[in-house]
Amino acid sequence: MSNTRMPVGIVGFGVRALLIDDLLARDDIEVRAICDPSDSARARASDQVPSALVTAQLAEMLESGVEAVFVLSPDDTHAAVAKACLSAGVAVFCEKPIAISIEDADEMLVLAKQTGARLYLGHNMRHMPVVTLMREIIQSGRIGTVKAVWARHFVGHGGDYYFKDWHAEQKHVNSLLLQKGAHDIDVIHWLAGGYSQRVSGMGGLTVYGDVEHGKPAGDMMTDWISTDNWPPTEQTGVNPNVDVEDISMVTMQLDNGVFATYEQCHYTPDYWRNYTVIGTKGRLENVGDGPGDAVHVWMSRKAGFGAPDEVIEIPEASGSHGGADPLLLDEFIRFVRDGGTTETSPIAARQAVAVGVLGAESIRTDQGARDVPALDPELIRYFDEGQPGSRSGVAAQSAR
Ligand SMILES: NC(=O)c1ccc[n+]([C@@H]2O[C@H](COP(=O)([O-])OP(=O)(O)OC[C@H]3O[C@@H](n4cnc5c(N)ncnc54)[C@H](O)[C@@H]3O)[C@@H](O)[C@H]2O)c1
Repeated sequence: MSNTRMPVGIVGFGVRALLIDDLLARDDIEVRAICDPSDSARARASDQVPSALVTAQLAEMLESGVEAVFVLSPDDTHAAVAKACLSAGVAVFCEKPIAISIEDADEMLVLAKQTGARLYLGHNMRHMPVVTLMREIIQSGRIGTVKAVWARHFVGHGGDYYFKDWHAEQKHVNSLLLQKGAHDIDVIHWLAGGYSQRVSGMGGLTVYGDVEHGKPAGDMMTDWISTDNWPPTEQTGVNPNVDVEDISMVTMQLDNGVFATYEQCHYTPDYWRNYTVIGTKGRLENVGDGPGDAVHVWMSRKAGFGAPDEVIEIPEASGSHGGADPLLLDEFIRFVRDGGTTETSPIAARQAVAVGVLGAESIRTDQGARDVPALDPELIRYFDEGQPGSRSGVAAQSAR
């Protein structure tokens, strides 16, 4: 690896900019510029990174010589910001979801290929120990060929995380099935080894439509989140324009014959994800999803509920999101400098968005099944092969 620091920019300095601690701790990058339209976000940015150019103008950031940009702004801004960066030849780390429409996601993929600027997706769950452990068990063949994946997400912090700001509005997220579910739908696809080709859904706004609406106490989610905000019916400060579902359930038929379901509820007392993967020789299920919790594996026949044949502890890892974020940054920096394949995938990100968009459409209309539009095989090949011929941040800079 080169011993020069790569100049990077950050677009959107809100909650996700907690990545700043990991970024500042690295000796291979320099946080050169931060862009955010909010005065208070820019003040925080200047405070935390006094050496950085802090601006409300994306163009000013792109002129500052950054070689890569972290797009950490709200979901509905990802496509426009990422496209401006790619067009300037700058590598992009785009937070999930890649976009809030299938069309925008497809345009981003096409533009990345056309410009040769590197596009990376921040699907950090692909680096989470619970997920990598389940994938290793599946790949070992212990549960045979995967036939079904059932994932349930108990979003206990949902009222605080998603119902008091922009996340509560369709115009910013499309749906929470897409915004939050993009993570799990991607994991379902990854564990199953295929992509959804048909999707249907049911769900609704069943609690947060009826609680006290108004202004939340503070500027950003970290100001108002508290486990004392309970029960959900007593929540206050919910976005008065809320029009997203607080419960969503989708069924998926994958292109390799696997069937999957995903359920998401934003008012459970507990906050974790539970995956069940059923194969032709067994089944696995995670019980808890953090370090010290475990993945249970059943590989022999039982009468009734039986003890698992194997209980494998989820390993410790340091860093945010169960240790996933430092690994994600390592992979991104390596990718920008040296290219090559990555665990996260722009194609997979698009396929997760497709399920979110079509699932929400099904929920909001006839609950019927929708077909996922196919992608150009050439585009799939380009991204599956790690964007061959794409330019590193440095090469793209000198080509400008
Ligand atoms: N991978 C993960 O684990 C993870 C975790 C949290 C958030 N996220 C993603 O990060 C993104 C940001 O979420 P958040 O929770 O930080 O939101 P947030 O509301 O806390 O912060 C968003 C920031 O972006 C700024 N912004 C708004 N429009 C902008 C624009 N056009 N250009 C630049 N900045 C703009 C806002 O002023 C705000 O400071 C979302 O897409 C979310 O899905 C991912």
